[in-house]
Amino acid sequence: MLDSAKHPMSASARSNVPPFMVMDVVAAAARLEAAGRRIIHMEIGQPAAAAPATAIAAARAALAAGRIGYTQSLGIPSLRRRIARHYAETQNVDIDPARIVVTTGSSAGFILAFLSLFEAGDRVAIASPGYPPYRHILTALGCEPVLIETRAQTRWALTGAALTAAHRARPLHGVLAASPANPTGTMMTAEALADLMGAAHDAGIRFISDEIYHGLDYAFPAVSAARLTDEAVIINSFSKYFCMTGWRIGWMVVPPALVRTVERLQQNLAISVPTLSQIAAEAAFDGRAEMDAIKHGYEDNRKILVEGLPRAGLDRFLPVDGAFYLYADVSRFTSDSFDFAQRMLAEAHVAATPGVDFDPTHGREFVRFCYAGSRHDAQAAVERIGRWLKKTG
Ligand SMILES: Cc1ncc(COP(=O)(O)O)c(C=O)c1O
Repeated sequence: MLDSAKHPMSASARSNVPPFMVMDVVAAAARLEAAGRRIIHMEIGQPAAAAPATAIAAARAALAAGRIGYTQSLGIPSLRRRIARHYAETQNVDIDPARIVVTTGSSAGFILAFLSLFEAGDRVAIASPGYPPYRHILTALGCEPVLIETRAQTRWALTGAALTAAHRARPLHGVLAASPANPTGTMMTAEALADLMGAAHDAGIRFISDEIYHGLDYAFPAVSAARLTDEAVIINSFSKYFCMTGWRIGWMVVPPALVRTVERLQQNLAISVPTLSQIAAEAAFDGRAEMDAIKHGYEDNRKILVEGLPRAGLDRFLPVDGAFYLYADVSRFTSDSFDFAQRMLAEAHVAATPGVDFDPTHGREFVRFCYAGSRHDAQAAVERIGRWLKKTG
């Protein structure tokens, strides 16, 4: 046995990323459930429904046929063609299938995008509040996340003016925007997206568009960055609209000049994306009617929350445009949303995510509710929260 005390294995500085605090809420909810309580889960951002039946059938058939080998690193060609067709069908834009890269969820898409676009030390702007892994992946890769605070007047999205001001203060190399966004559920209008992309283009800032919640838009149709340019990196996934979180499958649309770079990275980092998931994903496009019905269920839940939460006492929240999130201002009740979420779980048995995960500055005043569950749960949550707030004030 080697002497482990001599050279103890210590972690690198860049791996020192913060934990996801929602997992503490998840653990507390699991303890209550083990003790026999019925918890309404609105904390984790994932659909309660299964993948489309067409996807499951295709995966079953592939398993029955036998061998599941590697695929080409950029993905199965027929899947890449099908994804390109999806843009023609939903965005009315022609994309060369050669520009589509299949990825292990959009999470792997971020790693490929950041590695292919940025050097260590490069500065990348993101909106605050925002999805925490953006900043944590950038940090782990040696880049510097630059948080730009967003405001109600701009639907909580980055603007061209805010980007230009941040760039003037200290040069930026990239900007990442999401619409619909997590945790806010707000969307950028076509004009707002064009304004931000125009400012990025003028300043030579590389643009990354996280379009993972496309397909889940209620206020107005979500516009893809692909409609405006070939030079943005677009990241998308089968996790949300197609209800395939655990299949770990997504895609990117990359500028023509970047395809070979991303291919070389994927060859080395992953070889290829899980084959079974790729086969299922291609068939998922034939299950859109089933997924649209699920989306209509989210729309019903959205209505229940938007009308019910104000009656329950939570009357301040951001526009509930898309995705399946409602971001509520709870500053009337607390200056510590983590404690608020813990108490709401323990006393009302409703689990939600404290805003501190998404916004280090103002997150203590917000709580995120995910409404991707059942209609019954959305209704019951409103009633439970109403009773609880009446009691605790
Ligand atoms: C905004 C956003 N982007 C990306 C992801 C990552 O999703 P996946 O890796 O499952 O595609 C999530 C997951 O919640 C998300 O909310």
